[in-house]
Amino acid sequence: MAAAQTTRTTGFLRTLLSRCPAPRPPGRHRGLSSLPPPPPGAWSSDVSRLPHRELYRLSIHNPDRFWGSAAVDRLRWVEPFHRVRDCDLSTGRISWFLGGKLNVSVNCLDVHVETHPDRVALIWERDEPGTEVKVTYRELLETTCRLANTLKSHGIQKGDRVAVYMPVSPLAVAAMLACARIGAVHTVVFAGFSSEALAGRIQDAQCKAVVTCNEGVRGGRVIPLKPTVDAAVRSCPTVQHVFVSQRTDNPTVMGDLDVPLEEVMTSQPPVCPPEAMDSEDLLFLLYTSGSTGKPKGVVHTQAGYLLYASLTHQYVFDYRDGDVFGCVADVGWITGHSYVVYGPLCNGATTVLFESTPVYPDPGRYWETVQRLRINQFYGAPTALRLLLKYDDGWVKKYDRSSLKTLGSVGEPINHEAWYWFHSVVGDGRCPLVDTWWQTETGGICIAPRPADEGAPIVPAMAMRPFFGIQPVLMGEKGERLSGNGVSGALCLSQPWPGMARTIYGDHQRFVEAYLKPFPGCYFTGDGAHRSEDGYYQITGRMDDVINVSGHRLGTAEIEDALDEHPAVPETAVIGIPHGIKGEVPFAFVVLKEEFDDDSLVILQQLRELVASKIAKYAVPDHFLVVKRLPKTRSGKIMRRILKNVAMETADDLGDVSTLDDPSVVKEIIEAYEQHRKQEDKP
Ligand code: WT7
Repeated sequence: MAAAQTTRTTGFLRTLLSRCPAPRPPGRHRGLSSLPPPPPGAWSSDVSRLPHRELYRLSIHNPDRFWGSAAVDRLRWVEPFHRVRDCDLSTGRISWFLGGKLNVSVNCLDVHVETHPDRVALIWERDEPGTEVKVTYRELLETTCRLANTLKSHGIQKGDRVAVYMPVSPLAVAAMLACARIGAVHTVVFAGFSSEALAGRIQDAQCKAVVTCNEGVRGGRVIPLKPTVDAAVRSCPTVQHVFVSQRTDNPTVMGDLDVPLEEVMTSQPPVCPPEAMDSEDLLFLLYTSGSTGKPKGVVHTQAGYLLYASLTHQYVFDYRDGDVFGCVADVGWITGHSYVVYGPLCNGATTVLFESTPVYPDPGRYWETVQRLRINQFYGAPTALRLLLKYDDGWVKKYDRSSLKTLGSVGEPINHEAWYWFHSVVGDGRCPLVDTWWQTETGGICIAPRPADEGAPIVPAMAMRPFFGIQPVLMGEKGERLSGNGVSGALCLSQPWPGMARTIYGDHQRFVEAYLKPFPGCYFTGDGAHRSEDGYYQITGRMDDVINVSGHRLGTAEIEDALDEHPAVPETAVIGIPHGIKGEVPFAFVVLKEEFDDDSLVILQQLRELVASKIAKYAVPDHFLVVKRLPKTRSGKIMRRILKNVAMETADDLGDVSTLDDPSVVKEIIEAYEQHRKQEDKP
């Protein structure tokens, strides 16, 4: 008999895992209360009586039962699965809900159209305040079907890859769901990436089509997108069609490959039969940076990803039926995939698509939007909060934020100042604030406080608790498991979970090497973490050569590869240094060929342009320092630690430099840095 039938849920599980609980009466959202949060350590006696503990324990000790019943209760299946999971973290064989068939777009659209067709699915908060567009579930299903039929009629089939290069908009969401409907694999590329970066992704994924806009609109500015796509597809022979949506009225020059999207969609039927997809068929690829120069195409599949996105969306944010969920991320990042599109839509929520910036037309934009759209959960990035808290609190206070119930933060560590400002000024001290830790590779939130768990404490600026099914372990330098509390180490997850990435597209070996080999038997996150005396997790930051600029992940090797293409540059080393608003910024140490010494200013400008054109504007280093040579070990490895000490002006304490090939290089670099600072200080 199929496991989908044998793993029948018990009463309590059914209630807890059922699609979404009824709205809670007003006034019950007192997870953190208005009292200032107690200092870390004060909660220890509470830990033992967490109401969700039971459920967490079940998810760890009997994952088949936990996830099996959740999958039966929460997803609509075309065919039931016969086995909950088949995973081996040493080889990277990861399969969930084996034998099951379903369609993700049906779970995000059709099931809700049956019960509440006129509920608003999307509120598109356009750049210009007050011009929002609402799209109901019925309308979104129709639009998705028309777009799906458009793709189909242009030869896109199940398994084909489609790149989406669009800012957040209902058509971007429909493009993702249209791919899901016909079984195509989408790869959304953040519309801030350059044409070369876009081309690299299209080539790696061998995309058959691109969906884009003529232009984007952000912060009152018009950003051309179509020319970037034109330049990219010139080097992408696999692309047969470019579907162009008209975001603005400006005329667009159309070429041979181009298809006017809206025009063609209107002549397509608003109904499209969903493809029955195997649980483990590919749903999407999303490229992200690693420690080598080449971004990796992280692979997510159908059922496990969707289930994990929907369960985390409900529990971490305490989402209730009928809430308006406001995640201000772009669809080009995993946050946009899981918490703008798939999680909220699977739960039948009204989800906000935020096209603008936190400071347009003024620093009150987020909160004016909260007031106008009556947003219940607000999920944003620390970098934006750090920018906003510098302005007068009046920009927040003048708007009615009484609709807010839960606040969330994602993408990078949230500092205490930003946490308290968000909690006390934005949330008036009455909304639980959840710091959520996760990654492109994890598919959904893995560590976060649980506000739905009444009485469970929230410690400021800490991700704290593993989500259901997540078992964090900390590893020491010799690869040993660190037991007990009050320890720090490499953060690994020792059990597979349904939302985890399955592989790197076209390079399973790289997947195994990067995530599974470093600590055999576990998934290695690349982050370090501390387990507090109370057993809560605090993320301490990346342990590899990946930096985080305004919540955007960047490999320093990617920037180095771009810089190294300049003919005057034999060698570079890029590190990240702290920045008050962006979190981190790249700092580039550049070696110039001797004959170019006198042209260094010109060359540095060319290097800035090179990085912008090879990657994106946000990847351009904030600082450059020309040096004669780089600090290297005898085996030729660059000692970035030393560069970091110099750039952060902590070179008094360099630690062990005995492995350097020539220790005199340190003095040389410090002198170059001091010289550079003196010049910067000159009026
Ligand atoms: C890296 C993942 C998760 C969606 C957005 C970023 C850092 C993420 C936190 C947090 C401290 C965090 C980690 C992680 N990170 N959230 N709450 N506290 N660090 O996804 O681009 O895949 O980046 O972002 O270093 O490894 P991503």
